[in-house]
Amino acid sequence: MKKGFRVALREVVRPSSFFRIHVRACRRFQSPFTPAKHALFAYSTVSKSRHSASVASRLLGATLVVACGITTLVLYPPVVYADAPIQSEGSLGRKIRLHEVKKHGQSAETKWITKGTRVYDITEWIPGHPGGEVILRGVGGAVDQYWNIFTIHKKQEVYDILESYYIGDIDLRDLVNGQVPAENVDDPFKSDPKRHGDLTVHSERPFNAETSTEELNKFLTSLDAFYVRNHLWVPRLDEFKHSLIVEMPNGEEKVYMLKDLKEKFEALKITATLQCSGNRRRHMTSEARSTNGLQWNVGGISTATWTGVRLRDVLADAGFPVDDWPDDVKHAQFMGAEAYGASIPIDKATDKRGDVILAYEMNGKPLPPDHGYPIRVLVPGNVAARSVKWINRIVLSDEESNSQWQRRDYKCFGPNVGGNPDWDSAPAIQEMPVQSAITSLRDISPNSQQDNKLLQVYGLEEDSIVVEGYAYSGGGRRIVRVDVSSDGGRSWQQAELLPNEAKGAKSWAWERWRWVLPRQSAGRCFVVKAVDEAYNSQPDNYEPTYNVRGNLTSAWHRVGYRPE
Ligand code: MTE
Repeated sequence: MKKGFRVALREVVRPSSFFRIHVRACRRFQSPFTPAKHALFAYSTVSKSRHSASVASRLLGATLVVACGITTLVLYPPVVYADAPIQSEGSLGRKIRLHEVKKHGQSAETKWITKGTRVYDITEWIPGHPGGEVILRGVGGAVDQYWNIFTIHKKQEVYDILESYYIGDIDLRDLVNGQVPAENVDDPFKSDPKRHGDLTVHSERPFNAETSTEELNKFLTSLDAFYVRNHLWVPRLDEFKHSLIVEMPNGEEKVYMLKDLKEKFEALKITATLQCSGNRRRHMTSEARSTNGLQWNVGGISTATWTGVRLRDVLADAGFPVDDWPDDVKHAQFMGAEAYGASIPIDKATDKRGDVILAYEMNGKPLPPDHGYPIRVLVPGNVAARSVKWINRIVLSDEESNSQWQRRDYKCFGPNVGGNPDWDSAPAIQEMPVQSAITSLRDISPNSQQDNKLLQVYGLEEDSIVVEGYAYSGGGRRIVRVDVSSDGGRSWQQAELLPNEAKGAKSWAWERWRWVLPRQSAGRCFVVKAVDEAYNSQPDNYEPTYNVRGNLTSAWHRVGYRPE
C-alpha cells in the first residue's frame, strides 16, 4: 500500500521533472512546442517504464495523454506540403517517394524521416529530442539503423510519440520486397577510423576490441593497443571547430575551445587505468551462467598517462562555486558528440584530489579518434563508462544523466534478478571494486641467456615459471597486496609489485605484479587475488556477484598450467 503510494507519487513527480528538462531544451533551441506537446512528451517519456504504477496514476496519465492528444490534433492538423504527393485512394496516408524524403534533410526547413515504410515529419520534435541533435543524422532518410542502436527507443511511449508525427507511407514503387533498399539506408559507421593495433576485436560496428595479452604486460598501453569501447560511431571532429559548452544550474552557458582550455588552465598529467565494467565478463559466463553483452576476456582494461586540465578549474571559471555549491546540485553530466552520455557525483567532479580532467593527450600524443579526440573527460577511479569521449557539453544538475548508459546498462542487481529489473532500484556504477588478473604465464630456463638474467634476480638456478598480471582498485585505493597460488588456492604466496612512475593525487593506475617460482614446485592451477588499502578483496567464485549483464566480474582469476 505504502509502496504503491510512493510509486504513484513518483509517477506524478517524475513527469514534471522531464517536463522541466524538456521545456528547458525547447527554450534552448527556441522550439515552437505548445504546452500540450510538452505535456505529452513529459508524460509519455516516463510513464510506461514503471510497471508497478498504481491504478490511480495510470488513470491520471491516460487522461493526460488523451487530453493532450486531442489538443495536439486540434492545434496541429496534419500538414500538407506542396511537394508531397496527394494521398492515393484507399491508403492510410499519402504515398511519398524516397526522393521527396531526401529533400527534407538537414538543410531543409521541414525535416522528415522514415521508419520501416512509414514517413514522419519530425520538424517540431527535433528541439525536444532528449538525445539532442544526433537526430539530425537521420533526417532525409531512414532511422531504423539508429533505432536499433539506441535501444532506449524501443518502448511503446516512444513509438507513440513518433506516430504523432506520421504523414504518409513510402510509395510502393520505391520498395524492394516491401522494404527500403539498403543503398538508401545511411551507414552510421561510415567515417569510423581505420584500426591497425594489436587488438582482439569483439565487434566492428560499433567498434569494440580488447587489448592483447602482450600489451597487457606493459605498464603503459600503446595508443593503438588501448582497448576500445564504442557504443556508437566515432564522430570525426576538428579541434579548431569543436567546442565544449559548460551549462550552469541556472541555465547560463560558457563555451570553450580546446585552445582556450590549453591557454587558460594549468595542464596536469594523470596516470590512470580505464576499465570497462564488462571486463572479464567471459569468465562469469563460463564459470557461472550466461550473461548479456560483449564477452570480454582480461583485456577490457588499459593504462595511459593523460594530459589535460582540471574539470574543477573549468567549472570555477564558468562561475560555479566549486568549494561551496548549492545543495540541489548533485551531478555533473557529460555529453559526447555522437550522443553518448553519463554523469558523476558533483563531489567527485569538484574534488581537487579527485583528479577529474578534461584530457586532450594520451601518453604525450593527441587523443586518437577512437579514444575521444579532441577532448574527453577522464574520471580516474570510476568505471570507464563515465569517462565520456568527444565531450561537447557539461551540465551541472540535480539529476543524473538521462542516458541509458547511466540509468540502465551500467548497474548491478542480485544473482536472482533476471533481465528486466527495476532499473531505478540500483545505483549507477561509479567507483570500481578491486580486480586482478593473470596476463602471462611462461616457462623459463637457465639455458637461455635472457631467462638466466631474470632467474638470477630471484636467486633461482632451475627451470622456473614466470607469472605476471595486473591488480587494480577503484576510488584511488592503492593495491597493498597480490596473493598468488599455483594449487588452485590451497596455499598462497605474495607476488612482487613492479615499480612504476604513475602520476596523480591517488592510486589511479593498476599495479603490475610478477611471481617467479621453480617449475618443480608448481601445481596445475594458478590463481590471483588482490587486496586494496581498504582491505577489500575479490570473491573466490562468480556466483555471489553474478548478474545478467555480467558487470563487475572480479572473482579470483584462475589459469590452468600444463608443463611442456
Ligand atoms: N564516450 C562516448 N562518447 N561514447 C562511448 O561509447 N564508451 C564508454 C566510455 N566513454 C563511450 C564513452 C565506455 S563504456 C568505456 S568502457 C570507455 O569510454 C572506453 O574508453 P576507450 O574506448 O577510450 O577505451
